[in-house]
Amino acid sequence: MTTSKDDVVPAFGKDIRKEFMLRENSVFLNHGAYGSIPRYVHERQARYLTELESHPDIWFRYNVCTYLRTSTAKVATFMGIHTEDTFLVQNVTRAINTVLKSFPLQKSDAFLITSLTYVGVKMISAATVARVEDHITSPSSIVLPVKHIVEVCHQHGMVIVVDAAHIPGQLKVDVQDIDADFYTGNLHKWLFCPRACAFIWTNPKRHHAWFKPLVTSTLDNESLHDAFAHEGTRDDTSYVCSADGIYYYERLGGMFNVLLSLKNLGSISTFNVHVYKHMMHNLLTYFKIIQEKIVQYNSTLMAEGIKYLEEKWGTKCLAIPENMKAPCIRILQLPFIPRFSDSLGSEGTDVSKGKNFELKKLILDRFDVSSCVVILEGQLMVRVSTQVYNTMDDFIRLGEAVLELTQKEENGP
Ligand SMILES: Cc1ncc(COP(=O)(O)O)c(C=O)c1O
Repeated sequence: MTTSKDDVVPAFGKDIRKEFMLRENSVFLNHGAYGSIPRYVHERQARYLTELESHPDIWFRYNVCTYLRTSTAKVATFMGIHTEDTFLVQNVTRAINTVLKSFPLQKSDAFLITSLTYVGVKMISAATVARVEDHITSPSSIVLPVKHIVEVCHQHGMVIVVDAAHIPGQLKVDVQDIDADFYTGNLHKWLFCPRACAFIWTNPKRHHAWFKPLVTSTLDNESLHDAFAHEGTRDDTSYVCSADGIYYYERLGGMFNVLLSLKNLGSISTFNVHVYKHMMHNLLTYFKIIQEKIVQYNSTLMAEGIKYLEEKWGTKCLAIPENMKAPCIRILQLPFIPRFSDSLGSEGTDVSKGKNFELKKLILDRFDVSSCVVILEGQLMVRVSTQVYNTMDDFIRLGEAVLELTQKEENGP
């Protein structure tokens, strides 16, 4: 093990990058796409895999259940929700499929999405009784006022599932207060958990008896938690390691969720509530100084990086109000690039095909710089993400790479 739990946290930027497995010298400004885990979490997962293989029977019959309970509780505490209402699933795509495909759809019903809904979700949604809403959109990276949207949907009798793929580890939210029917977020994007790992929260105040796992397994008639935890024989090590991802995140000074602790005071005696609240307040004030170091670093770097690119390219960031900007993921216009910017046609926001995808590949192949190139409202744009291992040098490499392409008549492969 090269990284132990008790190591001193290295300085963010070049130093901490050594704790990640990213290819040397490559620029990775695309953390928001799939995340990237530190070696510590990778090694924890490898250990669990070794334990599994050393005795599969013991693993599947006994140990994994305990591990999963611990991880689910850790995820729930981190998100400020209750373990009973929290289920671990592979990813947000699966979570939303789970809701929409269990939904007792009648002939005249429909699913409602927006033009900003993630493309994978669009494919499974028929078109209004159920609604899918992104908390942070992809690829436009806009923070939507989901609490308000949820209220409006409920006034119209809709069931609403919030796609919060980019929330855990990037924004602190009060899931219970948002009050959607279902809320799902990826843990493998911003929380250093191994792929694939996500959670789905079901609102106990809006119980839907039809909600069940996508796959029917031997434990289908047992509790919902059992049914979710046993979709046949599978490798659960990524779920088990969600606790390790969160541990690493908190070790770096990532946000610490005390919302649930404060909300759970109902069961404590009045005297204790008072003392506890006071203690938590003091603790929170103290933690404010050292907490949220990750988002603070990432958003400061993002602001500097975007300013640099805007000046270098003479372009602008997507014009949205300050409170709708995601801290660690942002989108801005690219300058005119021959062969790519002309005749854009009506290509949409799909990040994995079209001219945008070709340009992304060209920047990656030629300059070893990774970002996400998209076409939004007819314009070629780039989405950049910042994580603790990024530095201004990464933005400079991207800025210069793109500028070089603007000056070339031929941008062939
Ligand atoms: C808003 C949004 N929803 C859903 C997804 C899908 O996530 P996953 O592939 O982990 O299911 C993404 C992926 O980037 C996303 O940005």
